Amino acid sequence: MADASEDLSPDDLPAAGTHRSADLRAVREDYSLAGLSEEEAGDDPFALLRRWMDDAIEADLYDPTAMVVSTVGDDGRPSSRMVLCKGFDERGLVFYTNQQSRKGQELGEHPDCALLFPWHPLQRQVRIEGTASVVDAGESDEYFASRPRPSQLGAVASPQSQRVASREALDQRLAALEEQYDGQDVPRPPQWGGYRVAPTYFEFWQGRKGRLHDRVVFEKCDDGSWERYRLAP
Ligand SMILES: Cc1cc2nc3c(=O)[nH]c(=O)nc-3n(C[C@H](O)[C@H](O)[C@H](O)COP(=O)(O)O)c2cc1C
Repeated sequence: MADASEDLSPDDLPAAGTHRSADLRAVREDYSLAGLSEEEAGDDPFALLRRWMDDAIEADLYDPTAMVVSTVGDDGRPSSRMVLCKGFDERGLVFYTNQQSRKGQELGEHPDCALLFPWHPLQRQVRIEGTASVVDAGESDEYFASRPRPSQLGAVASPQSQRVASREALDQRLAALEEQYDGQDVPRPPQWGGYRVAPTYFEFWQGRKGRLHDRVVFEKCDDGSWERYRLAP
């Protein structure tokens, strides 16, 4: 069993695809890869997030930067979807999207949101709650320019979250844009850009035997410091 302070390697992970039962009640794992003590968690949630992100990348998880973003609409109904985290520091976690999408519109009205890193092959999840704001246009420009050209064209072609007549309509729009921008840089569409989620709450969850998991929370205090405490699993 690996200690949480050690790197988790792919060899530590349980074998995938070992479930053979159609009875969902019988599909379960017992978690024993690691634990999370207060000492290992430390005092800085961003530093711990960095260590766990490094573990997820080194363990070769598929899309290790993918996180669920949950937003709330005017009607109070929550909705969730995955995005890719493109960086984080003490200011918050950044992702890019179409700001006229459902999530963009909801964040415009209700900037409080929740993030979740589903690193379950490492028997971990990280829950984050915070407030989203739009990143500077210059930062979005810089990231957009670094994206592969097909992703740039896709961002221009897609009126994200709106109804489209057909797959063919989207493909035709892409073909027209390929022609329009032939031999030229693709400019960032004004509605496409980044959000930075400034956290006020982190929960680091490490699965343990017998469902007695470790849950270590960091909650932001008024003076900007972090209060650390443990929750019952
Ligand atoms: C692994 C994964 C990563 C994704 N990354 C992004 C992303 O970085 N930005 C984005 O706008 N959509 C991303 N998507 C698509 C979103 O989940 C979602 O379908 C889209 O943003 C529209 O969501 P909305 O209609 O709720 O706004 C990703 C989907 C998956 C499964």
